[in-house]
Amino acid sequence: MSELPVRSFLQALQSAGERLKSHGPASQPARDALVALAQAAQVLTTAGPEVVLTLSDGALYFGPKMLPHATVEFNGMIGGMSRMGIDSVTVTRDAHPGDLADLAGVISGTSGDLPVGGTVRLNERPIAESDLDRSPVSGLRKTYSASLDTLRDLGAGGRLDMGQVIGIVEGFIGSSAASSLMMATVRNYDETTYYHSVNVCLLSMTIGNGIGLGDDDLRHLAAGALLHDLGRVLLGEAALSKKGSLTSEDWAQVRLHPQEGAQAILAASGPGQEIAAAIALEHHARMDGDGYPDLMGRTPHPFSRIVAIADAYDAITSRRPHRPARTPLEAMRILGEGTGTAFDPAVVTAFLHLMGEYPPGSMFRIESGEVVVVTGGGQGAPPSGLIVRDREGRTLAEPQPVDLDNQKMVGVVLPEDAGIDPAELLEAVEG
Ligand SMILES: [Fe+2]
Repeated sequence: MSELPVRSFLQALQSAGERLKSHGPASQPARDALVALAQAAQVLTTAGPEVVLTLSDGALYFGPKMLPHATVEFNGMIGGMSRMGIDSVTVTRDAHPGDLADLAGVISGTSGDLPVGGTVRLNERPIAESDLDRSPVSGLRKTYSASLDTLRDLGAGGRLDMGQVIGIVEGFIGSSAASSLMMATVRNYDETTYYHSVNVCLLSMTIGNGIGLGDDDLRHLAAGALLHDLGRVLLGEAALSKKGSLTSEDWAQVRLHPQEGAQAILAASGPGQEIAAAIALEHHARMDGDGYPDLMGRTPHPFSRIVAIADAYDAITSRRPHRPARTPLEAMRILGEGTGTAFDPAVVTAFLHLMGEYPPGSMFRIESGEVVVVTGGGQGAPPSGLIVRDREGRTLAEPQPVDLDNQKMVGVVLPEDAGIDPAELLEAVEG
C-alpha cells in the first residue's frame, strides 16, 4: 500500500491544527483546513471501515505496518502527540467533521480531550505492541529526523551547540549519493524551512562528497548547510510562510536573515563556528557580487558556493505559495544558466555530473506508459530505476527494477502529481 492516504491525512491534520492555533476556530483559514481534513479522512477510510494509526517509539504504524516515510515527514507532530500521551488514533468511515475538528484541536493544544465514543477516538489501541512490524527505520531517516529536531528546538528558543550539530549531521556521512538525493525529496509544507534546511544539508554533502572533500570538511559543510537559514528559523515559520506577496518591510526582514543567522552561530558554543557563520552569511551572495548581503567585492567561501547551489536546487524543485514545483531537469537547466554569474562554474559542473542525465530521485514516464523513479546512477554510472506505476496508472505494491539504459523517457513526472515520493522507496533500494 502507498503511504499517500495516511500522509495526506496527517498533512491535513497538521495544517488544521496550525490554522486553529494561529487564526482561531471561527476563521476562514481554519474552516477551509477542516474541510480538507474531512476529505482526507474520507480517502483514508476507503482502506477499511475503521483505520487505526499507532504511535510507538517515535514511529508511525498503519495497522501493524510501520510507515517509514510518514514517520520522518511528520516526526514533529508524532513526537508532540506521544508527549501528550497519545498512542493511537482511530478514524471511522464517515467520521464526523466535529470529531475531526476536536482531534485537530487536541493536537494543536487549542482544545481539551477528545470526547469518548465518537467517530474519532484516541488510545483505543487494538493493535498489540507485539503485533507491530518492528522493521528498523534506516540510518538516513534517523539522522534526518534528528536534524529536524535540532532545528525545531532552535526555533523554540533552544541553545545552539555546534558540537551537537556536528555530531548529528555526522550520521549523513557515508550515505550513497543516490540515497541522499532520494531522501532530499521529503517535504513538509507546514515546516518548510526545517525540511528545506535538512534537504540542503543532504544535497550539500552529496556535492561535497562528489568533489572529494574529506570527512572533516564534510562535517563542517554539513553543519553550516543545516544552519544556513537559521536566521529564518529564528524569525519564525509563521512570519515567513505568508501567502501572497511580501510587503517591503517583510522583504527587508527576509534580506536580514543571513546576518541574523551568522550572528547567532558566532554567539554559539562549540567548534566549526566560523565556517558555518560564513555559509549562513553568504548563501544568498552571488559570484558576480549581486545578491545579498553585499560582500564588498569578496567572493563567497567555497562552502557557501556549494550551499548556494543546493539551496537553489531545493527551492526550485519545491512547491511555493505562488508557483508549482519544477522538475529536477528544469532545476539543472536553471542552475546551468546561472553559471558564472550567480553560481560557481566548478560547483555547477560537479553538481550536473553528479546528477547525470537522469537525476536520482526524479521520476519519468517511459514509452510503455509506466512511471519510473530513478534510484541510482549519476557520476558517470548508468542510471537504474524502479517502475512504480503500471501502464494503466496503477501504483505497484512491489516496485519493479528496470534498466533505464534501454528505455526511452517520454515525460517528466513530479512527485506531487504522481502521489509518490521517491524517498518512499529508500528501503527498497538500500535493501
Ligand atoms: Fe536563505
